[in-house]
Order: sequence, then C-alpha cells, then structure tokens
Amino acid sequence: KQQGQDYDYEVIAQKGNTEFFDGVSTDTYGYNGDLLGPTLKIEEGESVDVKITNNLDEPTTFHWHGLEVRGEIDGGPHGGIQPGDSQIVTLEADQPAATLWYHPHIDGSTAEQVFKGLSGMLLIDEKPSSASQLPTEYGVDDIPLIFQDRLFDDNKQLNYNKLMNDDGTLGTVSIINGTIHPKLTVTKPVMRFRLLNGANARNYTFRLSNGDRFTQIASDGGLLDEPVETKSLTLAASERAEILIDFSKLTDEESLSLINDEGIELLPFDVALDDSPASSPEMWTADEPFLTAQEKARPVSKDIELFGMMDMVTINGKKFDPNRIDLRQEQGVTEVWEVYNKPDMMGGMIHPFHIHGTQFKIISRDGKEPEPNEQGLKDSVLVNPGEKVKLLVTFPEEGIFMFHCHILEHEDNGMMGQIEVF
Ligand code: C2O
Ligand code: CU
Ligand code: CU
Repeated sequence: KQQGQDYDYEVIAQKGNTEFFDGVSTDTYGYNGDLLGPTLKIEEGESVDVKITNNLDEPTTFHWHGLEVRGEIDGGPHGGIQPGDSQIVTLEADQPAATLWYHPHIDGSTAEQVFKGLSGMLLIDEKPSSASQLPTEYGVDDIPLIFQDRLFDDNKQLNYNKLMNDDGTLGTVSIINGTIHPKLTVTKPVMRFRLLNGANARNYTFRLSNGDRFTQIASDGGLLDEPVETKSLTLAASERAEILIDFSKLTDEESLSLINDEGIELLPFDVALDDSPASSPEMWTADEPFLTAQEKARPVSKDIELFGMMDMVTINGKKFDPNRIDLRQEQGVTEVWEVYNKPDMMGGMIHPFHIHGTQFKIISRDGKEPEPNEQGLKDSVLVNPGEKVKLLVTFPEEGIFMFHCHILEHEDNGMMGQIEVF
C-alpha cells in the first residue's frame, strides 16, 4: 500500500485507442490504459485490496477468474458496477500459486467487452521461502502471454459483430499481449511462460517450431502433480498453462518460435542468452496418487448437460436466468459433477466448461483417467461433443457462483447457470 492510500491496486476500466496496425488507431477498452490490464500479483496466503472503477459508458464487472473468493466479490453478472462508480474488494489468495486472470462478466456484453480489450493476468506468487527453483523474475525469465484473435474491418478498425459470430468470434488476426506479430528477446537459458487462452472462442494448440519438447509445469490452478514433457499443448478459451522452454541447447544459427498446430508462427524468439548458468530447475514427482481410490469411487451428485449451438445453447435445457438458482452445494463439501456435452444432429461442438469460486480436479473423461497434464487443479475444462467428464468440486467460500461455457458468445447467449453455496 502506498502511503495515504487504502488499497494496494487500482484497476480502472476505461476507453482507449490502440494502434494495432502502424499509423491506424481504433477504439479499444483497457484497464488503466488503452488495452488489456496490468498484471496483478498476490503472494500465496496473502491478500490485496483492489479499488475497481468503471470509467466506461456502460456497466461492467470485475471477475477474478480462478480465484476462490466469496460470491459477493466474484464479479459475476450480479456485481455490475455503473459508469463512474468504484468499489474496494479484498482478494485473498488462500490457494496455491497459480496463473489466474480477470475480465468483465456483465450479462449479455461479456464477449464484446473482452473483445475490445478488457482482460488482465492475476498471479498468485509462490512464497519467497518456497523451495521451488522455478524462474520467477517477472518480465525476465517469467513471462505472461495472453493469446487472442481479433477481427478488423477494411479500415483496420476492431470489428465486433455478435450476430455474425453467435458461436463465438473467431478472429483472423492473432494478437499476443495485444500486439500483432510480436517478437520476444530471450536472455535466460530456461524460460517460464504463462500461457492464457484469452480468446472469445478459439482453441490454441502450441508447439515449438523445431518439433522439440517443452515442459508443462502448471495448469489453471497451479503446479501439476508432476511436470509433463510434451511436444504440443492445447488450451481451450480461458484455460492456462505454465511451461518451461530450455533455450540452452539451441545452436547459434537455430531459430525458434512458438507455432500453432497449422504451423503458423505465433511468437518468434530472438535468443541472446546472457551468461546465467544453463541448469534446469529440479523437477518434482508426486508422492501420492493424484486422486485417492475414495475420490475416484465417489458417486455423481450433480449432472450438467451442455447442448446446442449459436443462440440455442442451454445447460440442463435452460438458459441463464439471474433470478433462478440452478444448483446448491454446501460450502466445503465435495461433490462429483458429471458434465455431458450432448451432441446434436450436426455432431455438436466443443464447450469449455468453467466454474467460478473453485479449483476442481478432473476425475475422468469418458471413464478414462485424465491425461497427465490435466492432473492438477483446474477451473475450466474442455468437453468434446459426446464426452462425459467427471469433476471433483469443492467450494471453499459461500455465495452465488456462475458455471458456464467459456465461449463468451455462448455465455452471453445464456449458456450459464448459477449455484448457491451455503
Ligand atoms: Cu472467465 Cu465466468 O469466467
Ligand atoms: Cu470465472
Ligand atoms: Cu459453448
């Protein structure tokens, strides 16, 4: 806290202008600036007071995606802040270190507000005393990367059209941390990247251009049970992953970039290593199974059925109604949710299912154990058409929380329900 100030951070949703293309600017939204927002940090076990202000011409909310807070300050559609209004919220990090994020959640305009630029990262930092030797120097060897895709019109103006993109806006231009064609200079042999799929709808599959492996160390809610060596990694909208890339073995002439599964370059690295020792941090192995036999055997107590496309999306046959409580669950009591993505005549589509106020564990996908990179805490899970995914869900705090599809246009179309935790 600065002297004379009764909060640690101030986050202002405001209008701005961004020059995505040289010499042409377009209207955008940002937090404290023209586009996106500052990275907020809370140390594991600590709390911060955040002053949130809405300087837009329309109502908005501030949702802390992945943070286990009371329903009251979760920034769901009930938490609307009118233009000109402010509020102070206390965010407590009573959960493991993780890469979380924040964005608006206003009923009917979430997709458009995010599209225009409202998103930021919210990091829970490891305690300084923690034994992890993971890279932690923010902006040096610990880099946040927000992946999004956008549509522009012929005049290079951001072009949001909900009716044309009712199944989720798929942009033709990729932006990373708000920049088209970014490039990153790498100075440390081992780099930690925090990847956030901040797109309205698109799935991203990441690979390295030389086909090499990298190491996934964390999922949405913190470190994985065990690090996973992999050649590719898919994130659905709103999912996060932390990865380590070892640059020390590259020869001088070799170039490296992060590419997508179509081979399109997302982020080229400009490697100019300083003389830091090229030793990889020590990795960990789980000493207990990810799920106990008891957890695996727990019976299903909540059924969720995702269905439909475009404006016809529903959960359990219903559309969102702010005045209806769909489910109830007792605070601190663990239940098993079975999420079924019911196919339609066309086959159906992927829905990334997200629950507020909790970090859950995936028990199974169609009866099979989750992949190693899903053996960690999660708040969003990609559910393929026809698939049934079982989740182990506990809410540590009370209040009303949303659960929904994180294709933002589906959410705005009512593919959302609410649970009261009592
Ligand atoms: Cu990213 Cu309802 O949230
Ligand atoms: Cu959320
Ligand atoms: Cu959906």
